[in-house]
Amino acid sequence: MTSKVQNLNLRWLRQTQLRYPFTKVQTVSTQSTQTTSAEQIQFLHKSTAIPLPPSSPSSPSSPSSPSSSSPSTPSTTSSSTTSSTTSIKPFVRYRAYSPQHFYNNRTLDQYAHQPVNTITLRQLIVFGRNITKERLIKSGNYVRTELPIRLAHRIRDFQNLPFIIGTNPHVAMVYDLYWSAFEKLKKIPVIRDIDDNDEFCDTVKSLLKEHLVVIPQLSMGISECSKHLPPHQLDKFMNTMLRSRISRRVLAEQQITLTESWHDHGYIYGADGFNDDYIGIVSTKCNVKDIVERCAYMSRKICKLTYNVEPPEVFVDGHLDTTFAYIPDHIEYILYELLSNSIRSVIEKHSPSLKNISISSDILQKQLFQNQNSPKSTKSLNFTTSLLSDKNFSSQYPPISVTVCSSHTDLCFRISDQGGGISDDIYSNLWSFANPTTSNNKSKFENFTKVPQMAATVQEYEKLMIPPTLNLGIGLPMSKVYVEYWGGGLKLLTMDGYGSDAYVKISRLGNKEENLE
Ligand SMILES: Nc1ncnc2c1ncn2[C@@H]1O[C@H](COP(=O)(O)OP(=O)(O)OP(=O)(O)O)[C@@H](O)[C@H]1O
Ligand SMILES: [Mg+2]
Repeated sequence: MTSKVQNLNLRWLRQTQLRYPFTKVQTVSTQSTQTTSAEQIQFLHKSTAIPLPPSSPSSPSSPSSPSSSSPSTPSTTSSSTTSSTTSIKPFVRYRAYSPQHFYNNRTLDQYAHQPVNTITLRQLIVFGRNITKERLIKSGNYVRTELPIRLAHRIRDFQNLPFIIGTNPHVAMVYDLYWSAFEKLKKIPVIRDIDDNDEFCDTVKSLLKEHLVVIPQLSMGISECSKHLPPHQLDKFMNTMLRSRISRRVLAEQQITLTESWHDHGYIYGADGFNDDYIGIVSTKCNVKDIVERCAYMSRKICKLTYNVEPPEVFVDGHLDTTFAYIPDHIEYILYELLSNSIRSVIEKHSPSLKNISISSDILQKQLFQNQNSPKSTKSLNFTTSLLSDKNFSSQYPPISVTVCSSHTDLCFRISDQGGGISDDIYSNLWSFANPTTSNNKSKFENFTKVPQMAATVQEYEKLMIPPTLNLGIGLPMSKVYVEYWGGGLKLLTMDGYGSDAYVKISRLGNKEENLE
């Protein structure tokens, strides 16, 4: 086993030597006495050459001076030859990757050994509905203690990967970010009053922003490491990482939003005649029809600009009056992704000449701007005018149908298209982060170089105008992560040559614990 992993390590180093400049890390004594396995010791001795991240356009913008207090942070000698244009560089400057750092930390153990206290959607609602100053501070302290524990679990997951994967610059960058956030969060003292809570929320806000690079970086890292670990293990790692990421964002955003509402209103939701559909980031009255139409509208709009044709219409039927409690960002992301796949496949199947069209977000943004300013086309791009029901535009393509079925406990969406279905080779890797799904066998996630930051929300897709043709390869696996996080499910059935049906099932009761594994 040892020799196998060592071989991988050497292979990685040889590969990276060809591609990236190296910098030396000064050896420093470690603080921890944590037991280190024989395998790990081998790595500690072998790996003194540290790869720097490649200079790529995907590089995120520089974070605001991150904490340099990672354990046994080595003083690094940054290579002067490193490109100054690399925006990942600031991360490297404050803590280059080091084997000592990777394996040794006693403090981490204290947190990683604590269990995660999961919550349900209903708890978020009930707690937030009766918010008082005392409860706001109480929930602030829950989030304050929970975030570092959840981060510590994931840092441990990184450490359990073969060392060679940890040396990948993208993976190392995310690992560094997690360490830095863990260090920051664990130092925050008990929240005693609203001022402490405000300060805590500010810290969390800046971390949320800093961590927008996580999905692209992790995706590229996993894609580059696909040779070094079996796909099912990489997928498990990625699923756990992303689910945990969603969970931390939910806790953080809920606290931030409740705090903002507290400052705006200063009283209990539902009291004094004040009734808000939103409790923090949770909407208690998501309307099925509104959500589907909104997602269809946005997806059609981007497809229209990308392909320059009238996209297939989207018909919605079933239990359309249903309302349910959910985090709109989550369900919108899922439905948007599925609708985008359907619209795109229908257009490409029935207009083969549009198949390999490539358009950048910049051009889309310019087109959107021009269209919005053009009197002729204002109507089609006006948010208040639903393209779904606009009779002035007829599409040459077979429509997509969305059927909604609601029971006492669950809500199901079926999205059916006639987009030609999915071939076996793509279908078998549909949910995998590690395997390529593109027909030309290009590595998945290569296009993330064009999307350096990602919150994985529809608003972001719309704001950045990310074209469906970009083929990031994350839409379906990420949608599954979202839906399973609250105990739901996502399936896709296909008839190769005809079309596909996607099924989304979510719980209406909100009584399922967060699914973090
Ligand atoms: N409804 C569909 N009809 C035909 N092919 C589909 C459909 N849904 C998915 N696919 C195939 O599965 C692949 C993976 O889909 P997925 O949504 O995960 O990634 P993507 O669409 O390539 O990129 P993105 O991350 O931008 O969504 C697609 O590239 C496409 O080939
Ligand atoms: Mg997609």
